[in-house]
Amino acid sequence: MLYDATRNDHGLAIDPFKALIVPRPIGWISSIGADGNVNLAPYSFFNAMSDTPAYVVFGSHGLKDSRRNIEETREFVCNLATWDLREAVNASSATVARDVDEFELAGLSKAESRFVRPPRVAETPVAFECVYEQTVSFAAHDKETGYAMVVGRVVGVYIDDAFIKDGRVDSAALKPIARLGYSDYAVIEEVFRLRRPD
Ligand SMILES: Cc1cc2nc3c(=O)[nH]c(=O)nc-3n(C[C@H](O)[C@H](O)[C@H](O)COP(=O)(O)O)c2cc1C
Repeated sequence: MLYDATRNDHGLAIDPFKALIVPRPIGWISSIGADGNVNLAPYSFFNAMSDTPAYVVFGSHGLKDSRRNIEETREFVCNLATWDLREAVNASSATVARDVDEFELAGLSKAESRFVRPPRVAETPVAFECVYEQTVSFAAHDKETGYAMVVGRVVGVYIDDAFIKDGRVDSAALKPIARLGYSDYAVIEEVFRLRRPD
């Protein structure tokens, strides 16, 4: 098939779009509001856009707590979502009141970040401490319902030393999980290497 994405006339029971952009890494975002409330939620419209300097982005569908907090206090942390923490990742996505701390909801501990105020998830082996750069709102949408992209600059990178072997991060050992379509996920356990042509 080839469908009109503006009219979204795919004719399927469920929109296939997210099942086609796969696998999507998950930014498990911790933030703090101006009132001091701590927040944690997963975002799979997430990726790094550059490395030196490193920038990350995530897409928020409407003005959710993470985006609101980050725009208020201008810092956040992207924690790595892993196989071992999959239930906690999912639990932290619950739609709850703004003053609910999803670390507690998901049974997670907070570890102090080094460069920013929001804590990282103590149980996860990788976290990126970020400073808010800007929000890019997509056209023809209002703030409450439309998508916007939140951009942050990475100012600190936490890696559990146990995952560094011979000077390289063992990505497969981290067992990162990634989002597919519907309620499906993938887990990275196998890697292969391809050297670029000279
Ligand atoms: C794996 C996963 C990925 C998600 N990705 C997104 C996303 O990219 N954008 C979004 O707006 N919501 C996404 N959600 C839903 C949010 O996590 C959910 O709305 C959450 O309550 C938002 O929390 P907050 O209001 O504390 O920021 C995702 C949920 C899950 C389980």
